[in-house]
Amino acid sequence: MPLIAAKDVHKTYRLGRVDVPVLHGVDLSVDEGECVAILGASGSGKSTLLHILGGLDRPDRGRGAVEFRGSPLHGFSAGALDRYRNHAVGFVFQFYHLLPELTVLQNTLLPALVGLGRLEHARRRGAINARAGELLALFGLGHRLNHRPVELSGGERQRVALARALMNQPALLLADEPTGNLDQATGATILDALMGFKREQRQSMVIVTHDPRTAERADRVVRLVDGRVAG
Ligand SMILES: Nc1ncnc2c1ncn2[C@@H]1O[C@H](COP(=O)(O)OP(=O)(O)OP(=O)(O)O)[C@@H](O)[C@H]1O
Ligand SMILES: [Mg+2]
Repeated sequence: MPLIAAKDVHKTYRLGRVDVPVLHGVDLSVDEGECVAILGASGSGKSTLLHILGGLDRPDRGRGAVEFRGSPLHGFSAGALDRYRNHAVGFVFQFYHLLPELTVLQNTLLPALVGLGRLEHARRRGAINARAGELLALFGLGHRLNHRPVELSGGERQRVALARALMNQPALLLADEPTGNLDQATGATILDALMGFKREQRQSMVIVTHDPRTAERADRVVRLVDGRVAG
């Protein structure tokens, strides 16, 4: 059974009275431990598809489904969907979505604090801090822990977003252009780290990218064309 599968997913945005059809029957499945790269022209619906896989948006009603370990997301209760979004999936947004008033360290450890009671928070604080610090060091940000996002470059923010996405050891990493703002050497370091997670923890991932060097490192490359997976 695949880890995640999109089956005949359709998505139409409605802007007032105008329908903007974006996805026209996307089929895609990703196995445990697999890295899939999604390529496609700007506006082809890559971010839309990633949001749908992550349970952040839904396919058009009755037009396709996303199944996680064989269970359709549309059958999840609100609580189960929250757990799916926060624990099963780690999401790197195309435009990072870091919280501006929090430091790099606080942004990174946030997913681990969601839903923790005060006592548990106090008990686990040390371990949570340590994991966030390790991830940030791995991504070359060990010297930036107490900076705020506004004090970072685009590529540094992107790496914070990646550390935050991995904080809860998600079964599935969904990353929207994770190397989009990085120079070649930094991009390669980040990919090395991700491939390390894949090798050692069978980290599954779906990476949206325009970068052929990133796509090259994936087990499989799929192309979104005309709202479908081509070929
Ligand atoms: N919230 C929205 N409301 C209306 N239309 C939207 C919305 N989000 C995206 N779209 C439209 O859907 C299409 C696909 O957008 P999407 O962001 O998924 O493309 P993309 O492949 O990620 O592009 P890029 O490579 O530029 O990031 C675009 O035409 C966009 O204008
Ligand atoms: Mg996009």
